Amino acid sequence: MVGPLTQILLYLVIALGVYFYWKRNRTWASRLKDCTPTGVFSLPIIGHMYQIFGTSTGGYLARFLEIGASCGVLRTRKPAMMWMGEIPCTAIFAPEDIEVLLGSSKEITKPDFVYKPVRNVFGDGLITLNDNTWQHHRKVLTPTFHFKILERYAEVFRKYAQEFVEELRDPKLRGVEVDAMPLTARVVSQTICETAFGMSERLSQTDEMKKKEEFFDALDVSFRTVRSRVLKPWLTLDLLFRLTPEYHEQQKAEKIIKDYALRVIRMKKREVALEEPGQVPSGEDDIGAKKKVAFLDLVLRDAKNILSEDEILQEVRTLVTVQQTTASTLAFIFVMLATHPDIQEKVYGEVCDILDNSQSTSYYEKLGEMKYLERVIKETIRLYPVTAVFSRKLKEDMILPNGKIPRGVICFVIPFVTHRDQNIYGPDAERFDPDHFLPERCRTRHPYAYIPFSAGPRNCIGQKYAMLQMKAIVSTVVRNIHILPSKTCQTQEDVLLDVDTFLHIVGGFNVRFEPRNVITT
Ligand code: HEM
Repeated sequence: MVGPLTQILLYLVIALGVYFYWKRNRTWASRLKDCTPTGVFSLPIIGHMYQIFGTSTGGYLARFLEIGASCGVLRTRKPAMMWMGEIPCTAIFAPEDIEVLLGSSKEITKPDFVYKPVRNVFGDGLITLNDNTWQHHRKVLTPTFHFKILERYAEVFRKYAQEFVEELRDPKLRGVEVDAMPLTARVVSQTICETAFGMSERLSQTDEMKKKEEFFDALDVSFRTVRSRVLKPWLTLDLLFRLTPEYHEQQKAEKIIKDYALRVIRMKKREVALEEPGQVPSGEDDIGAKKKVAFLDLVLRDAKNILSEDEILQEVRTLVTVQQTTASTLAFIFVMLATHPDIQEKVYGEVCDILDNSQSTSYYEKLGEMKYLERVIKETIRLYPVTAVFSRKLKEDMILPNGKIPRGVICFVIPFVTHRDQNIYGPDAERFDPDHFLPERCRTRHPYAYIPFSAGPRNCIGQKYAMLQMKAIVSTVVRNIHILPSKTCQTQEDVLLDVDTFLHIVGGFNVRFEPRNVITT
């Protein structure tokens, strides 16, 4: 039996639901008339979110793609429309629409609703900041990714790539199926610690090594929690999240991450304070060789564009955590090479030829010559853009070639869908084929048809860094190691995908590593 109080409460909830539903339709129906509705019923208060509640692993992405396909958005090319709770959301897929949105210098606001859970991992750095603070930080950080700086980092990438190969040569790994992701995560984290903190010498001390291990474990915990919050949208409410055990785990991890990064920043600050006033790393050391300069060196010496200690802390944290994108992409590349042995051998041939015969004197230039490898990397990121979705909250009405989107709406860009559009990449759009990036094919494509690093004013600041790093790691691995498929993932068709914070393979990036006979550097 239901008591009178419960009955009243029930009627109240129903009445509120009906009111919200009526108000939402009245306010938005005409304003969203250019958008294609999903064709799936949206409930009051939760909108379309119920579509993904309780979806099993592998089902989250599949469900969204199913809805997209059934409402025919790729055919109509109009923006698609969904309700995330009471928040109106659209998604655009056509390169000409994406160009208007991402190319805009006004529409650069990231929606809180999407980026709030992400902030727990990335911190309040460039990825999640908005407005003037974002502009200020972007200005300070841009010079630290200048190609002259990257040129110096190439040797750091080479050093860690070689150490990585030594790890893969471990007899215990020979022929055994392993998830490549934890391995790639380690190597990219080590690299960023040196290029961002300039910490390599200190890390050889045992105490420091232990602290670094704790720091990486804490990062893993942070990523796990953000995944969990993305998959359970009700946990975006802090009030509910605080009641979960994950919250306490996350708090502990947060403290470890913060303490470690602060220690490093303060150590660097002391070093800078001991320098003569105005002394700036010259870029050349005593013997005229190019000096490696870490991100922190540059930021702490930038007298014009000062960031506070906390702001630097947040940016360091962003730079370290964002390496997860490169780690996942590297793991996808290994799976693609394992499942396409002919392509792997072509990469091997190119790498050996350049490293043995090129007239270039610097390693940076040699990496630049590896054009086939570059096509393999680009093709992997086309099919598997790890940041599969990103978004903006519109400040003003936006007129796109394929329809108008009103202000206040959240607009999603989904490279995963645009990159697989047959109207753009032809009938074999789903097939892994590095020739999709032959120069003549790229020339005829819309520049916004390939957006794995986003584009426009809020594009990925680290894309050149990532490309160089991935080229160094993949070329060194392929030269020394055969990458073989796992039993369960023999072909591209066996790759089952899902998306949480990033795109990933359900069940892991499983491959086998078998050393080649030659040992080369
Ligand atoms: C394969 C590797 C990578 C991919 C696919 C990737 C992709 C992206 C994408 C799609 C965005 C835009 C995100 C959004 O609008 O929400 C972005 C932003 C950003 N990325 Fe990357 N990224 C990669 C590697 C890196 C690396 C190695 C770094 C740093 C060393 C980096 C630093 C950043 C930063 C700081 C932003 C924010 C830029 C801003 O809003 O001003 N990324 N990245």
